[in-house]
Amino acid sequence: MAIQKATNITWHQGHISKEDREKLLGQKGVTLWFTGLSGSGKSTVAHEVEKIFYERGHASFVLDGDNIRHGLNKDLGFSPEDREENIRRIGEVAHLFTEAGLITLTSFISPYRSDRQKARELANEGDFIEIYVYCPLEECERRDPKGLFKKARAGIIPEFTGISAPYEEPENPEIRLETHKNSVEECAKIVIDYLEKKGII
Ligand SMILES: Nc1ncnc2c1ncn2[C@@H]1O[C@H](COP(=O)(O)OP(=O)(O)O)[C@@H](O)[C@H]1O
Ligand SMILES: [Mg+2]
Repeated sequence: MAIQKATNITWHQGHISKEDREKLLGQKGVTLWFTGLSGSGKSTVAHEVEKIFYERGHASFVLDGDNIRHGLNKDLGFSPEDREENIRRIGEVAHLFTEAGLITLTSFISPYRSDRQKARELANEGDFIEIYVYCPLEECERRDPKGLFKKARAGIIPEFTGISAPYEEPENPEIRLETHKNSVEECAKIVIDYLEKKGII
């Protein structure tokens, strides 16, 4: 997957750098990569954090799993190969948004460590912040906000992360949230506090 097909292509170097764009926007472009089980709270926390950025005058954008699968990645399913390609494209898009100077939030299960690592490798040092949204499987299943666990248990959805497909936990995430212990607001504050401490906002 993702082999280089085109050969007669040359990189065109522009006049404006990431730093120039950051100066214009008065912020630093970074990727906040949320990963975790379905129902762990990735989307809920990411959108809460985006709201705080907006109120503080920061330009940010959430790339959210299901939304992207309606458009850019509508040709992909949930096989291991398609999951890899899903995350590869999101890694590339997040990188472009980050280069544009935006605070970019991605909300994808992104179950494979190697795929997250590849996304990280696209970024400059310090520009990729992995946020492990931890919540025990039993609690995710109890919440089941989209009714997906129920369908997975009934065998209607195959290859469901945590049930019939693997989730590889992050080994060294920059931030670990525990959404079964902390409220949405508390989780959002942990993210904001980290960014302030690092001088990103
Ligand atoms: N601390 C918390 N953080 C995030 N979500 C929470 C929290 N506590 C309860 N929830 C609930 O859990 C569900 C998480 O769903 P969602 O954000 O769609 O998960 P994901 O995007 O990871 O699949 C929501 O119904 C949300 O209201
Ligand atoms: Mg979600």
